[in-house]
Amino acid sequence: MSKSAPSPRASTAPTSKTAPTLSLPLSLPTTTPTATECSTPSKSPAAPPPSAAASSKPSNTKPSGTLATPSSPTPSPSSSVASELQCCSRPPDLCRSNFADGIGPANTGLALVGGRLVALAETDLPYKIKITPDGDIETVGRHQFGGGGERFLTMTAHPKTDPETGETFAFRYFVTAPFLTFFRFDSGGIKHADVDIFSMNSASLVHDFAITKNFAVFPDPQIVIDPLRILIGKPIMGAELGKTPRLGVIPRYAVDEKEMYWMEAPGLNIVHTVNAWEEDGGDKIVVVASNVLCVDRALSDLDQINLEKIVIDAAEKKIVGRYRVSRRNLDFGAINARYTGKKNRYVYAAVLESMPKMVGLVKLDLSLSDSSEDCAVASRMYGPGCYGSEPVFVAREGAEEEDDGYLVAYVNNEKTEESHFEVMDAKSPTLETVAAVKLPRRVPQGFHSIFVKQSDLLKM
Ligand SMILES: [Fe+2]
Repeated sequence: MSKSAPSPRASTAPTSKTAPTLSLPLSLPTTTPTATECSTPSKSPAAPPPSAAASSKPSNTKPSGTLATPSSPTPSPSSSVASELQCCSRPPDLCRSNFADGIGPANTGLALVGGRLVALAETDLPYKIKITPDGDIETVGRHQFGGGGERFLTMTAHPKTDPETGETFAFRYFVTAPFLTFFRFDSGGIKHADVDIFSMNSASLVHDFAITKNFAVFPDPQIVIDPLRILIGKPIMGAELGKTPRLGVIPRYAVDEKEMYWMEAPGLNIVHTVNAWEEDGGDKIVVVASNVLCVDRALSDLDQINLEKIVIDAAEKKIVGRYRVSRRNLDFGAINARYTGKKNRYVYAAVLESMPKMVGLVKLDLSLSDSSEDCAVASRMYGPGCYGSEPVFVAREGAEEEDDGYLVAYVNNEKTEESHFEVMDAKSPTLETVAAVKLPRRVPQGFHSIFVKQSDLLKM
């Protein structure tokens, strides 16, 4: 983690009538929420005509919609993920607002919650955004979801939506007790009451979690947030190697934490979850997640990170198996969203050179995880100087097989400063490009992304 105060980064929000994008770099906070300064958008290369496009294998069934992904200026290789906290992508008038109006760096992820498109950072409320008819992006404002009664504080940038019920599950972590609070929204986006989790006994960086049909699973990593660390000359956030990481399981419709249980998980410092599900009638819970191997360097040099399959015996309330599913540095795992909370077979993950340099993609077959340490069945490297955004899987219209669809991502060539929107065949062993659209301006490699169907955009 960077010990110096991160400098504000300019944020470019390229607009295009054909490919609207957002400016949302990953943020893993180093500090408690504080006001941030607005940065002046950096000067971007002159935009070529938006019609420039190339297609090596046109397809009539390409996904219809838009991929939104981080597009702020390229962080230097030495920049930390933590330093991205200070990125400010809000308009100048919002920068002048006070704390009660929000902090503003909704720069981590995007989600559709109850049909609303929101930009998210875990240190703030969601910000409702909309795509205008001509393809521009507008910030509507900080969004207080109705219901619940209590003042809505912060929210994770990684909410999980059940594809069958339309409910969205989320949480917030905080620097004072309760250090973790779980909540959910119904399919209309109305928030239900908070479930405070006091058995989370310290403030930890809980960046992501997972849901199954009946449960939510939370990590309790060794990365802690403690203002008192300042007194001993340490950053407010850092690794506490004497702490034993844990996994916590709570019924997803819990009204309190009475039924929650925690399991010690040495060496398990989860950054992002990929999916979770139940097996054996609920006696077993399986979680697939990325695990930081060198947690003491996690916030400064995140270059050793694996994907693991973790098996929980729900009856015995203990972890009974952990399986590394690839030998590569992988994170930002994507799945067919129809399988969120349900057993799935395929994971598509970004290959990390170092954070945030995503140099390629792999497709993993989890059915091989019991017998192999490398479940890769397809891979694709972008080439020298080319870095991608988080991949998103988009199912082909009418598809029945889990991997019948496309992987979409932005790929930026740092040498030419040209960016393409790539559509790749998820069934191909080389993740072959079926369409590549040259974008009107540079979109640097980024972090989290969302693909929004045109039909969802039209409902907003
Ligand atoms: Fe994230």
